[in-house]
Amino acid sequence: MSATRFTNLVGCALPVQLAAMGGVGTTELAAAVADAGGLGMVPSGTQPAGGACGVNFLMPFGPSVDDIAAAARQCRVVEFFYADPRADVVAAAHDAGAIAGWQVGSPAEAVAAEKAGCDYIVAQGTEAGGHVRGGQSLDEVLAQVLSSVRIPVVAAGGIATAERAAAVIRSGADAVRVGTRFVASPESGAHPDYVRMLLAATADDTVLTEWFSDGWANAPHRVLRWSLAAAQETGWRATAPPYRGVDRTPSDMAMYAGMGVGDVNLSQPAAEVVADLVRLL
Ligand SMILES: Cc1cc2nc3c(=O)[nH]c(=O)nc-3n(C[C@H](O)[C@H](O)[C@H](O)COP(=O)(O)O)c2cc1C
Repeated sequence: MSATRFTNLVGCALPVQLAAMGGVGTTELAAAVADAGGLGMVPSGTQPAGGACGVNFLMPFGPSVDDIAAAARQCRVVEFFYADPRADVVAAAHDAGAIAGWQVGSPAEAVAAEKAGCDYIVAQGTEAGGHVRGGQSLDEVLAQVLSSVRIPVVAAGGIATAERAAAVIRSGADAVRVGTRFVASPESGAHPDYVRMLLAATADDTVLTEWFSDGWANAPHRVLRWSLAAAQETGWRATAPPYRGVDRTPSDMAMYAGMGVGDVNLSQPAAEVVADLVRLL
């Protein structure tokens, strides 16, 4: 079983969405996921891949309607995160010919996204790496979102194995969204030190904090505890994760990681990750 309401909607073969990842989400990574049958995603400002690909906008940074429309003309999918859902930006994506999605952290936010005209929702649990929108575990928020909306629902947060992917799809999710496991893929833009730390970490090595807050305050995010401890010593608070080629020692940069990190023990090409994630579907 591979086709779902989500794959039909966005035009990919497998129910796997690459998480949009500011700072480390490259065109190459999105292309590799799309070529393997999933939906690739890039953060706004990064060239989208050909094929099934979407562009993600972080609302705290105030994207313009022109930028949203430009992305929507290039890609089938435009997606938003970290603000109350807004009908005007959804309409901007629709008017320029794209499908619109919103990553949410609660059933109330999911209902608001559906009312704003979204075509799909990402339900994010607190296990997620990076910025965390809500306060419920994935199983809790997924169940409540599924009973609150009619549009397709993608599950996100701590999913790193075929077993977990199959379990959330059995629970009713139309696809899985995976971030941390793809950070370790060679196609990502992550700094090698960041990848090494991910491969060594377990769920207990992650922590939710609001420390990395320059330009984006009051927004909890899950990172590796070691990077938080280092940043609290140096005072580093920038939100960018350690990226390849950064011209400083990256140990105190925000090493975003979800609670599935304990199952990420290998730097695997993205195509292999996609194939493994759908193994039990
Ligand atoms: C390095 C990193 C950067 C992220 N950047 C974004 C982003 O720019 N936009 C967004 O919607 N979500 C972002 N997220 C959150 C993901 O969309 C998703 O919720 C999360 O990766 C799922 O949990 P997982 O990492 O355990 O798979 C990011 C996550 C990570 C790990």
